[in-house]
Amino acid sequence: MTTADNASRGSWNSKIGFILAAAGSAVGLGNIWGFPTQVADNGGAAFILIYLVCCLAVGFPVMVAEFTIGRYTGKNPVGAFRDLSGNSALAKMIGYWGVICGVMILSFYLVLSGWTFGYVMEEVFYFFGQSDTAATLGDLGHGTKNALFSVLFMTFTVLIITGGVSQGIERATKLLMPILILMLILLTSYIFTLDGSMDGLRMYITPDFSTVDTELVLSALGQAFFSLSLGMGALITYGSYLNKKQNLIASAAYVTALDLMIAVLAGLLIIPAMFVAQYGGTEIFNPETGALYSSVTLVFDVLPEMFHQLGGLAGALIGITFFTLLGLAALTSTISLLEVPVSYLIDEFGMRRKKAAWSIGVVVALIAVVISYETSLIDLFVIIFNEIGLPLGGLMICLFLGYFWKAENALKEIRHGFEGVETHWSGKLWSLFITWVCPVLIALVLMTTIVNIFT
Ligand code: PHE
Repeated sequence: MTTADNASRGSWNSKIGFILAAAGSAVGLGNIWGFPTQVADNGGAAFILIYLVCCLAVGFPVMVAEFTIGRYTGKNPVGAFRDLSGNSALAKMIGYWGVICGVMILSFYLVLSGWTFGYVMEEVFYFFGQSDTAATLGDLGHGTKNALFSVLFMTFTVLIITGGVSQGIERATKLLMPILILMLILLTSYIFTLDGSMDGLRMYITPDFSTVDTELVLSALGQAFFSLSLGMGALITYGSYLNKKQNLIASAAYVTALDLMIAVLAGLLIIPAMFVAQYGGTEIFNPETGALYSSVTLVFDVLPEMFHQLGGLAGALIGITFFTLLGLAALTSTISLLEVPVSYLIDEFGMRRKKAAWSIGVVVALIAVVISYETSLIDLFVIIFNEIGLPLGGLMICLFLGYFWKAENALKEIRHGFEGVETHWSGKLWSLFITWVCPVLIALVLMTTIVNIFT
């Protein structure tokens, strides 16, 4: 590839810029909403422990693989697998699957992200006593409101993407990530000053191992893939803008650690917040099942009710900060989801970045509008593209790397930025995991998921 080609594709400006952009992709609704929800659903700390194992044993090696494939080829996922395989149609399918998952996940993710924006406004209107408008803004089934906010969210994402890799994506994530971490720390500290929070903390850190079963392990691995943005080539794409000086293993370690840290911190905010809500009189356990409310109810019913209970300026500010945090986390993820199909159009069809971003943006926004009116589609999309799609993509990436490209060749690429990795314990362990442990574990999980869906 010539320097001119490189310049037109774009590249990261700094090592930390790349790490923050990749961490921005990883940290999203999956961490701040998905993870605490899963913890609430699955026996507190027992889930956290199993999730940790999934991230380290499967997520981290797959992330190194994606970075390596991206940097070696300097291409979008389709171009990357084409170049590596000598134009094999089968290998290119892995890339196409990534582009499709990117488009489809983005389309429902936009609706969820739009909800968070809606709730920022809901808190504002509630504070000013406009409860009717507040209720509309908080109505998750309101098609037109959902469509408007999704399109708005897509517009922000496209505007950042059109700025390019370093001036758009890197600049935005370098600004947003520290803000996000600061907001999370402030909110968590505040919640711990409120009555009831200690009960939540107790539940969060006490493991209930009686809940550990295959189902829980499946959820933990699925959550790890989604939260670390793996299996669809987002991180192949981000890796393709890297120079040869970056240590890929260390970078993946930082990104995984940041993602884990933020998820655990979000749990530390949300589970105690639920118990604060209970202290104030909100029901937090489902009377039929006895389980903690989770998912949509947790974030969009229980928490807003708590913010309203707190009342006054404090309640409004906490609510606004919380939903802004959720929205910003989502934004750094939608950027990476959109960048996958955009880089595909730029590389493969020589399209200009601006045109590529707006074209895909319009298509995805249209699908999001349909989902806005028919929100029951979200569950279907989650099953196909998230629960099956991402592990399937991850499995294909492992098999391709381990049995076609070969781990020793990948290590030659990783050596740039990490001299001596082939003989270092981390390099040896990575080869073993990416060829044997990861594919076997992912295949088992995938088979069980599919069997569960059809039985
Ligand atoms: N990792 C993001 C989250 O946790 C979602 C995502 C998945 C982003 C796949 C990019 C690719 O919310």
